[in-house]
Amino acid sequence: MAVTGVIFVLFVLAHMYGNLKMFQGAESFDGYAHWLREVAYPALPHQGVLWILRVTLLASVVIHAYAAFTLWSRARSARQQRYVVKRSLQQTYASRTMRWGGVIILAFIVFHLLQFTTMTIEVGGSFDSPYHRMVAAFQPEHWWVYAIYLIAIILLALHVRHGVWSALATLGLSTKKREVGFNAVAIVVALLLLVGFMATPTAILLGIIK
Ligand code: HEM
Repeated sequence: MAVTGVIFVLFVLAHMYGNLKMFQGAESFDGYAHWLREVAYPALPHQGVLWILRVTLLASVVIHAYAAFTLWSRARSARQQRYVVKRSLQQTYASRTMRWGGVIILAFIVFHLLQFTTMTIEVGGSFDSPYHRMVAAFQPEHWWVYAIYLIAIILLALHVRHGVWSALATLGLSTKKREVGFNAVAIVVALLLLVGFMATPTAILLGIIK
């Protein structure tokens, strides 16, 4: 879980950074989208790096979900009797929402790919330019698209906060003193994702990016 989790965090941080190029205008963002498809050509075929990334991410999703399910069923069978009184003193809100959060994030990714990769769901019209596709999607009249992204990114931030914390505790030798530092790193990464991802749709919604 920790290793695939680290792959996701690196991917979302890079994706978030790429999205911020929307603030530099159409040429910058579309140029970046084009570069993503052509990088390493002709050493690799067109979209070669993109496909390596897609396969890595897909494999990571499968392993991450399988590991989550295995851990959950192992914990369930270890506890022969169900809890009579469920106590959640040690559990944070994020750790309790990991399972449902994960499922909703997965559903969001399906929606997101249908919207921006396969373009099966077109919001606000059909455009060749990824920049204009983004601007059209987050216009105020499609407020529900903004709401879906906001909910998904909040859940992602909560998921990552707990995930980063437990990955650091799993991979590193956890001590009480270190846990304070791990927690701080987890909160910083989660806040960075929340603010960094929502900056672009919010700027479009407010008419700052046109
Ligand atoms: C505000 C949040 C987000 C926005 C505005 C956004 C926007 C985009 C856009 C415009 C593309 C297409 C880029 C292109 O055509 O070159 C894209 C692709 C993608 N995004 Fe996001 N994204 C967001 C969040 C996320 C999150 C949270 C994840 C994963 C957890 C994610 C996963 C992906 C993936 C896997 C692709 C497909 C890459 C491909 O195979 O072509 N995105 N995103």
